[in-house]
Amino acid sequence: GFDVAKLLKTTGGVTYDPGFMNTAATKSAITYIDGDAGVLRYRGYPIEQLAEHSTFLETSYLLIYGNLPSATELEEFDQKIRRHTLLHEELKGFFGGFPRDAHPMPVLSSAVSALSTWYQDSLDPFNEEQVELSTIRLLAKMPVIAAYAHKKSIGQALLYPDNSMNLVENFMRLSFGLAAEPYDVDPDLVKALDQLLILHADHEQNCSTSTVRLVGSSNANMFASVSAGINALFGPAHGGANEAVLKMLRQIQADGVKPEDYMEKVKNKEDGVRLMGFGHRVYKNYDPRAKIIKKTAHDILNKLGGNDELLEIAMRLEERALADDYFIERKLYPNVDFYTGLIYKAMGFPEKMFTVLFAIGRLPGWIAQWREMIQDPQLKIGRPRQLYIGEGERHYPTR
Ligand code: ACO
Repeated sequence: GFDVAKLLKTTGGVTYDPGFMNTAATKSAITYIDGDAGVLRYRGYPIEQLAEHSTFLETSYLLIYGNLPSATELEEFDQKIRRHTLLHEELKGFFGGFPRDAHPMPVLSSAVSALSTWYQDSLDPFNEEQVELSTIRLLAKMPVIAAYAHKKSIGQALLYPDNSMNLVENFMRLSFGLAAEPYDVDPDLVKALDQLLILHADHEQNCSTSTVRLVGSSNANMFASVSAGINALFGPAHGGANEAVLKMLRQIQADGVKPEDYMEKVKNKEDGVRLMGFGHRVYKNYDPRAKIIKKTAHDILNKLGGNDELLEIAMRLEERALADDYFIERKLYPNVDFYTGLIYKAMGFPEKMFTVLFAIGRLPGWIAQWREMIQDPQLKIGRPRQLYIGEGERHYPTR
């Protein structure tokens, strides 16, 4: 309802680009995406190769430091992280301050923000040693915080991390272990979760990563910036989609709706329903991560005997969507979230934890992007422009 051309003239020729569809806010050497071809690479390595051969720990190193680590470098990195898993004892009291039914995402973002109050010796963004220390602290402590948020929500005791375990094993134990019983880590589940975390580890300038950069551009510390990223990820159009997919599948199952009838509803845009887990701002082809996850979903559900009917519904929806003109014309394909919820559910995570798992996976990407930004000699505070469409000057009535 307003004349963009005229506004552009009066605003001095700024670019108007809602949603930043065509605006590059930064240069970056971390992640390459070709959305039309369905290509994703971290530091040049195709996601398919990393998902098959790497580990989440090694991929985190790759993203943050730029190259794959040697065996010694990886071992040192692993040891450093294991040494930093403990949370300050007082910080643990923090978890009791939320309602029992609190969503774990705001608990996670609050606790990550609060890290800056307990670890004040690593807050200077321009001190390399401090940046390194907050990097390790975040990588080590965030999965612990996430597991504690989960434990609190189900009324169970918080366990101490067991540093004989690696990052992912430890997280599984802290999430599912009970104080009085030994916890046997299932290597198949650890491998599957590790792979899911690799697939989520970075995705260039998505909403949460751009948020981390924007907040960090004011020289806010890494904990504050990552906490903001977690809040951005919480939105249903971004990280909340995996939860939304499972809700959708369950609704379809509960209502006894045929997938083909549900598709009609989506296509007619009835009540604004969308096929959750489909479509992506950048991928206009099959999301390469979704291909890998689809196989993992079958493997894990076969092993654990999860809700096969939901997987069946998901596959039927996908099959129909891939053959339907509505989806073909709009280039809507399954994205990474279409199958992840089914896997997480089968592993025993409640739906509220799904986005938290995404956050744990995305953490090395946020850290790598934040560090790249801080080291950029052309770093400028992020400050978008606007086109003002409000009232002209008015005078305050004097009576
Ligand atoms: N189901 C049905 N129709 C869809 C869907 C969908 N999932 N996604 C897009 N469309 C349609 C829109 O209605 C629109 O149609 P129109 O041209 O007739 O108006 C067209 O496709 C383009 O959609 P936009 O919303 O303009 O596309 P955009 O790039 O802005 O949105 C987004 C991308 C938000 C991911 C969208 O596809 C969506 O809402 N998907 C469902 C939620 C989801 O799965 N999000 C996860 C994203 S991936 C991630 O965060 C890891």
